[in-house]
Amino acid sequence: METLPSVTQTNQTVTFNYPNRHLQISVLTPEIIRVFEFRGDKGQSYAVEGNKQQPTTFTLNKNDNHYELKTDSLFLKIDADQHIDVYDQAGHPLITDYRGSRSPLDRGIDEAHKQLVEAEGHTVSQSVNGDDNSYYEVVKALAADEHLYGLGDKTGYLDKRGYEYDNWNTDNPAPQMENFTKLYKSIPVMYGLKNGYPYGLFFDNPYRSHFDMGKENFNYYFYSAIAGNLDYYILGGQTLKDVVTNYTYLTGRVPLPQKWTLGYQQSRWGYSISQQEVETIADHLKKSQLPCDAIHFDIDYMRGYRVFTWNNEAYQNDPKAFLQNLKQRGIKIVTIIDPGVKKDPDYSVYSEGVKKGYFVKTPDGQVYINKVWPGDSAFPDFGRPEVRNWWAQNTKFLTDIGVAGIWNDMNEPASFDGDIPDNIVFSDQELKSTHQKMHNVYGHNMAKATYEGLKTHQGKRPYIITRAAYAGTQKYSTVWTGDNRSLWAHIQMMIPQLCNLGLSGFAFAGTDIGGFGSDTTPELLTRWIEAAIFSPLLRNHSAMGTRHQEPWSFGEPTLSIYRRYLQLRYHLIPYMYDLFAQETKTGLPIMRPLVLNYDDDPRVTDIDNEFMVGNSLLVAPIVEKSQTKRLVYLPAGQWIDFWNHREYTGGKDIVVNAPLDKLPLFVQKNAILPWGQQVDHISEDPDDEMTFHVWGDQGHYDHYQDNGMNFNYQKGEFNRYAISVNRNQVSVKLLHQGFKSVYRKIKVVLPEKTVTLTYEPRTNRYL
Ligand code: GLC
Repeated sequence: METLPSVTQTNQTVTFNYPNRHLQISVLTPEIIRVFEFRGDKGQSYAVEGNKQQPTTFTLNKNDNHYELKTDSLFLKIDADQHIDVYDQAGHPLITDYRGSRSPLDRGIDEAHKQLVEAEGHTVSQSVNGDDNSYYEVVKALAADEHLYGLGDKTGYLDKRGYEYDNWNTDNPAPQMENFTKLYKSIPVMYGLKNGYPYGLFFDNPYRSHFDMGKENFNYYFYSAIAGNLDYYILGGQTLKDVVTNYTYLTGRVPLPQKWTLGYQQSRWGYSISQQEVETIADHLKKSQLPCDAIHFDIDYMRGYRVFTWNNEAYQNDPKAFLQNLKQRGIKIVTIIDPGVKKDPDYSVYSEGVKKGYFVKTPDGQVYINKVWPGDSAFPDFGRPEVRNWWAQNTKFLTDIGVAGIWNDMNEPASFDGDIPDNIVFSDQELKSTHQKMHNVYGHNMAKATYEGLKTHQGKRPYIITRAAYAGTQKYSTVWTGDNRSLWAHIQMMIPQLCNLGLSGFAFAGTDIGGFGSDTTPELLTRWIEAAIFSPLLRNHSAMGTRHQEPWSFGEPTLSIYRRYLQLRYHLIPYMYDLFAQETKTGLPIMRPLVLNYDDDPRVTDIDNEFMVGNSLLVAPIVEKSQTKRLVYLPAGQWIDFWNHREYTGGKDIVVNAPLDKLPLFVQKNAILPWGQQVDHISEDPDDEMTFHVWGDQGHYDHYQDNGMNFNYQKGEFNRYAISVNRNQVSVKLLHQGFKSVYRKIKVVLPEKTVTLTYEPRTNRYL
């Protein structure tokens, strides 16, 4: 045992002066503590913006062999051997350093055989260790009863325990299965439930990093990074919800979206080849009576895949008029953009970028070129504020034509001509940096630039979708999970993937419904729209060359079932919008794993095939081929079958029939849910009335309303209504009135009766 280090304290930061290192522990709030060691990286955080430290009292005491640092919520022991152990206030261990040395489980192979096995293309071990001396690792003990969540979009199951993952944003459309370590996003936040007690750990380092969640050895998990500072946050809280609220306090929350973005969106790579193609889709949607708010334009609308251009000839030389016309029909247009700028001296975006030095460069100062859709392309240096401004200005080209949202793709950044070398010169704000450091925040910075552009040019809440992301990107953009496939394994994976994204701050996320690659089937498409109907981003998208998967492609009964679920979605958009209004304050996602709502129920720690929408809806989709009944676990409490209103007592599994047209759906007893009118698209005109369904004879609901478009709500232009029901007695109160279009009428539907209340402007009451 070494002797205890000396400590120095400034404000809320204590520095432990070990002989070989200075470890800083900063108390940000009673539930958020930062551990930091400077290891040469001078950059700023991309995830945490602004000062998150709140005046917090804590105590620091020196014992015989350790220091004790205590806040009102967390208790840290820091010892002479540089261990940091974290306990909750009551002394339950949350995060404790592993005392042994790493000892991989035996793989039964020697070096010679390893080479043989690898010769056929098999991988023996996927762990990534850096070989230079900037590599470091943090190894924590695993309890027998410990479940691990988070990590953004990573493949596999809800509970990440037993798997390993890499953070290195990667475009790999091969079938993404549970052994896929890398995907499009790097969100290095993990949550644990250790013997039932929740905690979180957020490692803020954009360099390539690795999480081994107890795969190498059952007794520990570890995080390692190839370079960068040691910079992690300990997140506490009474409940898992509190921990998520703390994480999103730190890295930011999804801002309130425009309401129409919760509507259905139809997409396919190829639609935007011509105006006629798009018109056919819009006509089909209408003819099939499918509610829809947007059609997405993939890369084909551009001139030779040049970003910020339009192939006008294919749009009767007037794309603006065409988009205007579609808008009048209720359909908004979202266009894709890619970061790769075509190398073409006659193309102004390229020539201006070269002239002003806005592209990343080789170490000897040449513009670095790799291949993407346009062929040879240069890559904007998004780490620099000036380049982000330039990009933001360029988005005006699209908003001037009338584009409603922008979809950012290929921003890992993807490169077809081999990986971008580590030493390509990228900027880290104003500092010169490398691809190695800036890779994982490239998509983040592109999304941020696009967000700023839309905000300025449209004056509305920007609607951005991005494929690549880092922790904190949720402040600027919605995400989708990239190129999945029409596989049953991928509809299954959608649930844990979207739930873990939600826990990781990305409350607004979705998958390509029906599957992007490979051919879908009528059954898979039907089950997919059922299972995805509450995913915040609701978009059917597929690759060119795959079998068509528009809702009408397979005739009946697919079309009718599809329509029925889209109608259900539109009825419940006011509920989802309310959940977003709450999310901006709590960071809690819309689509939630059961464990988030019931973290004290050991039965729900690894449920992969059910999820919740807010606190009130439990969804148990069929995600297996040919299945028409399933077990559904209902947590404690009373639950009502949405379809036949049968009541169940929870705390057990029930068997539910689910023929092809049925999504098993349960409502918590006494929940009150808003029920919007059946519409073809979300109107920009305010609703005149609202209906609330009461799933019992008592309950309370807080409902939010604003114009659904711009930032006026931040100036108080919103209304809040309190709907209360007590023994069938209904009362509606306006808790806040700032938006002039209050509902004229409110209908409250109880099991036995419907109560209609009318707004009395004189008294400001509903009678
Ligand atoms: C990428 C995207 C996909 C898009 C395609 C063509 O594969 O992930 O959604 O359709 O590029 O732009």
